[in-house]
Amino acid sequence: MKILMLASEAEPYSKTGGLADVVGSLSRTLAGLGHEVGVVLPLYQETAPVLAKRSVSTIHEHLAIPLGKETRNVAIRRVAEGGVSWFFVDDKEYFDRPGLYGTSEGDHPDNPQRFTTLVRAALAIAASDFPADVLHCHDWQTGLAPALIKSGLAPGLPGGKLPVLFTIHNLGYDGLYDPAILPRLGLPDELFHVDGLEFHGKVSFLKAGLLYSGKVSTVSEAYSREIITPEFGLGKEGIIIRREADLIGILNGVDYAVWNPEIDPLIAAPYSIDDLSGKRKCKRDLLAQVGLPAAAIDVPLIGIVSRLAWQKGLDIVAGVANEIVDLGAMLVILGTGEAALEKRFALWSERLPDRIAARLAYDNRLAHMIEAGADVFLMPSRYEPCGLNQMYSLKYGTVPIVRATGGLLDTVEPWDRETWQGNGFHLADDAPQSLVAAVKDALAVYKNRDAWSVIMRNGMTRDYSWERSAGKYVAVYRELASSGS
Ligand code: ADP
Ligand code: GLC
Repeated sequence: MKILMLASEAEPYSKTGGLADVVGSLSRTLAGLGHEVGVVLPLYQETAPVLAKRSVSTIHEHLAIPLGKETRNVAIRRVAEGGVSWFFVDDKEYFDRPGLYGTSEGDHPDNPQRFTTLVRAALAIAASDFPADVLHCHDWQTGLAPALIKSGLAPGLPGGKLPVLFTIHNLGYDGLYDPAILPRLGLPDELFHVDGLEFHGKVSFLKAGLLYSGKVSTVSEAYSREIITPEFGLGKEGIIIRREADLIGILNGVDYAVWNPEIDPLIAAPYSIDDLSGKRKCKRDLLAQVGLPAAAIDVPLIGIVSRLAWQKGLDIVAGVANEIVDLGAMLVILGTGEAALEKRFALWSERLPDRIAARLAYDNRLAHMIEAGADVFLMPSRYEPCGLNQMYSLKYGTVPIVRATGGLLDTVEPWDRETWQGNGFHLADDAPQSLVAAVKDALAVYKNRDAWSVIMRNGMTRDYSWERSAGKYVAVYRELASSGS
């Protein structure tokens, strides 16, 4: 099939979180399965140095993109890599700046214009350079694409059609704007109604994606069940229930060419299920890197790699960090995000430097070092559409403690003391004491070296490679293409 992806980030060109991993690796997997895959992305400031190392062709030096009364002149660059055609929308005013979506000062105020430009450029590419059978849109930044297609506002598409799959990676981000933005984006007022883009008096890009696409998917089966409930629907459950017949959950995969301790070039020593000795070297290396005492090599080390956002429940960790280390553990945190939370973790590491290390940065290498060097990985998320780090942790023999929700529930099976089945530990709720209790449980198993090696192996043998999930996407693409919706 000919598949066009539209997203706001994809590794190795741009990344703030798991969306980038998924768009990058799903696209390469689909190409590996023999499909023709194109991906449309913005050419951000952080993308430019990556492209400088590639062979880049310019397929449009001046592509006119209508945006209300304005016409934007964008260039379209193309890179062929991993069997995929990567198209980059080069609009310097909109994308050549720090921050994909915003800075510490807040979101970029012209995000609606920026992502409408991205969407319209993608539709122009679909009309001429890459006439696809299906368009796969990801998250709110791309939500207007199906709305424009369905409303006949995407000129030149072959047969006037392009079926759309819209994937929700995170319902917590809407793209909500004042309706005054509509004419500036060139969108007719007629789209602003309760069965269209209107959401509580605002324009919602996410709602556009949810309502106008042929099918809607999300990134785990559990999350697809959760988002039709008030607890997880975040006010959008009514809209999602309307699409229930077209809603499907497909678990994300892992790119084991990148996240695999046997071949990972970013860790101190390779290791595998048959020879775990390298993992101890990785732990030693990690302790040195983050300034925790080398003598503490046998003290269980709990790792966290995360955006510091409410979703991730790390305020709960910050509230009981001393209680956790008092149980006889150390904590290493890598993350950026909410300033207040960064400060709380920085304070803990100042107060308990032998027990808690906080690196408030974005650092891919350290992320790999933590996956390899920690004993336990903590993800107390309040909600988690899929979550990738717990799957990476399983592969690295780093036992996950997770909140039993979304993709965490689908991938981490709680340890059973009787049968020695299971690959991690579940938190029942977001109460701080549930977190302390789960860490206590995990540390008790850690003390039993036989049990611990079984729990590690149970995780390391799990296979979350992309092929299975990619096959499920292809089935959805085929259904969409044959129905033409
Ligand atoms: P989300 O997309 O909600 O942030 P995921 O678990 O799906 O959560 O994916 C997070 C991705 O971002 C992983 O690849 C993780 O390693 C990476 N990541 C998050 N924070 C950092 C950080 N501070 N430094 C390096 N990588 C990070
Ligand atoms: C989102 C979700 C995360 C998911 C990722 C990729 O950022 O928060 O759970 O793994 O998208 O689908």
